[in-house]
Amino acid sequence: MTKKVGIGITGGIAAYKMADLVSKLKKNDIEVIVIMTEAATRFITPLTFRTLSGREVLHDLWEQHDEWKVKHIGVAEELDLLVIAPASADFIAKMTYGLADDLLSTIVLATTAPVLVVPSMNTNMYLNPVTQENIEKLISRGYRFMDPDTGLLACGVSGQGRLPEIEDIYEQIINLLNPPPQDLQGKRLMVNAGTTCEDIDPVRFIANRGTGKMGYCIAEEALKRGAEVILVSGRTHLEPPPGLEFIPVWGAEEMCQVMRERQADCDIIIGAAAVGDFRVAQAADQKIKKTDDGSQRLVLELVGTPDILKTLGASKQTGQIMVGFAAETEDVLNNAKKKLKSKNLDFVVANDVTMEGAGFACDTNIVTLISLDGEVVSLPKMSKQEVARAIIDKVVSLLNN
Ligand code: C5P
Repeated sequence: MTKKVGIGITGGIAAYKMADLVSKLKKNDIEVIVIMTEAATRFITPLTFRTLSGREVLHDLWEQHDEWKVKHIGVAEELDLLVIAPASADFIAKMTYGLADDLLSTIVLATTAPVLVVPSMNTNMYLNPVTQENIEKLISRGYRFMDPDTGLLACGVSGQGRLPEIEDIYEQIINLLNPPPQDLQGKRLMVNAGTTCEDIDPVRFIANRGTGKMGYCIAEEALKRGAEVILVSGRTHLEPPPGLEFIPVWGAEEMCQVMRERQADCDIIIGAAAVGDFRVAQAADQKIKKTDDGSQRLVLELVGTPDILKTLGASKQTGQIMVGFAAETEDVLNNAKKKLKSKNLDFVVANDVTMEGAGFACDTNIVTLISLDGEVVSLPKMSKQEVARAIIDKVVSLLNN
């Protein structure tokens, strides 16, 4: 049955970003009822949301409506989820004290659906103890909150207060509408992520374009589905998700050693890290000096690093599931199949990194899952969270076989 989500927009500059969210929800067959506060209509017009949601936008408590006898109660009862985004400091305060002087605040009080609040405001307003106390009170009453992102804000200062990425809000909505199955309960999954780094000297190193996003999404998805997760991470700018065992590492050899030590404890191992294939044969003890005129040449001798998955694949235990990635620039399927065999994997997630919307430093990926049993499943362009879900679905189907 189609799910119905109320999107409550309050007065904040991020209100315009909700157009993307409404559009994404609609495209994914979720019915959206947009409710705006008076202040929100000053930032973006209801017409935008009427066009995107395909239905009238609600903002006036007193206006009669044919669809519901008592509008705020009728809407509140129909919702599967109410999202307040952006949630201003003022609206959060109103929610805390149960004020109900406009349509959105009455719906908040009247609904029994889960409510997701996504604050977005100036850093000082957000960090103000009044706002923080209000948020704590609301959390203790069962309201869900998303932390704002940190960055440059519309008011010119930098700090916490930005609306999280629409993709992340969308993910939260999907999780609340369809709580993930606990199909990895009792299983331990180890995933590696990020780029490995190989020292040249004490200040320089060789790394690559791996951002860690794919591996971190896999770790999060596995956590959500009940697994115990070990995240072995090379360099990345991402925050490790709470609730897992986080092991930061530097080079490929260290990553390999850590994973070998933990291999026997794991039911599932996924290699999503961008492991460097070479390291500097002899890293310098001191910083390598340059000559003043810049004419010097520096030749580094590189030697191979261990292939981590191949090493683990060689001592794979019965029933252990191992998954690798194959980022290719040509002959994707054949190269991926070779990796599947040489690394003793159960399936490979192959992608052509030359395609737009695939590969490194990108929020989306276009992948093909190639299994040992010969099954080849090509997936459309998806967010990395969606790819992570597809990978875990495949792992679960193998565990159940
Ligand atoms: O052989 P290639 O580097 O393309 O294989 C990619 C897969 O192998 C990825 O899953 C990656 O994490 C893993 N890998 C590894 N150790 C290496 C190189 C790649 O585990 N030294």
